[in-house]
Amino acid sequence: MQADFHKLQVAGIVQETHDTRSFILAVPESLREAFSYRAGQFLTFEVPWDGMQLRRCYSLSSAPQTDAWPKVTVKRVEDGRISNWFNDSVNVGDWILVQPPEGRFVLRSNEGDHGIVLFGGGSGITPVLSILKAAMRTTERDVKLIYANRDERSIIFKDEIDLWLADFPQRLEVVHHLDSESGFMSVADIQEHIRGWEDGEFFVCGPTGYMDTVEEAFKASNIDAGQTKFERFISPIDPDRKDESAVVIPEQSDDEIPESFTMVLEGRSHDVPYEKGLTLLVSAEKAGHKPPSSCEDGYCGCCMALLKSGKVNMACHDALEPSDIERGWVLACQARPASREPLELDFDAEY
Ligand code: FES
Repeated sequence: MQADFHKLQVAGIVQETHDTRSFILAVPESLREAFSYRAGQFLTFEVPWDGMQLRRCYSLSSAPQTDAWPKVTVKRVEDGRISNWFNDSVNVGDWILVQPPEGRFVLRSNEGDHGIVLFGGGSGITPVLSILKAAMRTTERDVKLIYANRDERSIIFKDEIDLWLADFPQRLEVVHHLDSESGFMSVADIQEHIRGWEDGEFFVCGPTGYMDTVEEAFKASNIDAGQTKFERFISPIDPDRKDESAVVIPEQSDDEIPESFTMVLEGRSHDVPYEKGLTLLVSAEKAGHKPPSSCEDGYCGCCMALLKSGKVNMACHDALEPSDIERGWVLACQARPASREPLELDFDAEY
């Protein structure tokens, strides 16, 4: 079932840099549970635009342990319909439609005292700062932030990061990289930054080129994909642009359709009947189960499950990294069986 949108009031706005503002949202008592969140998650907004309802996801820059209200930070994107609307037209006291928090870009609970390495590129700092704050407040783990920006004036949260550094000089290390002074960060630079942290937990968010370079460096330094999490800026496609991005998935032929599949959910195994054309998520819902889901559009990652056997095709897998797919993760809202072989889907698997 798609998560509902709720009206939240903008309680405060902070001008972070010349092109970036943060929006603090007041959550009424009745919605506190729905809007409880983990550091690193994101919110989805629905905005009326030229007769359409456009949706955008923005990461929370707040952390539940350090901020009274959820806060998102929005940097202008050239020609970006909604990022410019946020920066030009939203005022304190306005009401906006918001879906409850989602996302798996969060600290694992069982990492012991392994270090945490955070890579933020530009406005990719938002979920990374949220994780930094939660890690400083709730763990004893060492944290290293490597933060790349175009130039000095583009650095979002500079003062806030300095305050964390002043509070935790023993546990927190921060590296600022400015492209204007040193050029783009290279694979070799990144390998140098992570030397000595190889058994840590890694989080990366930023522009595509930056994330690709960091991923390449991880491979070169033999960092296991299971230690890394990447957050890409993904939002649903606008209704008037859907055709440009249409993904064609192969028609299911009758000999590709299993009569049922096995689903593990909340500690129990179920046999779920399957009908041609349905996704695994819809099949499970038709059978009376309630697997996790939210956007049903392939971008939130909420319906991720581990495919333990069988084959599927996915219409969209934006929320997954190539390494997730290699390890067998699928989006149940997008996956349809692609063979008759026994198919087992595990929603309880540890990511
Ligand atoms: S419900 Fe959002 S990706 Fe499947």
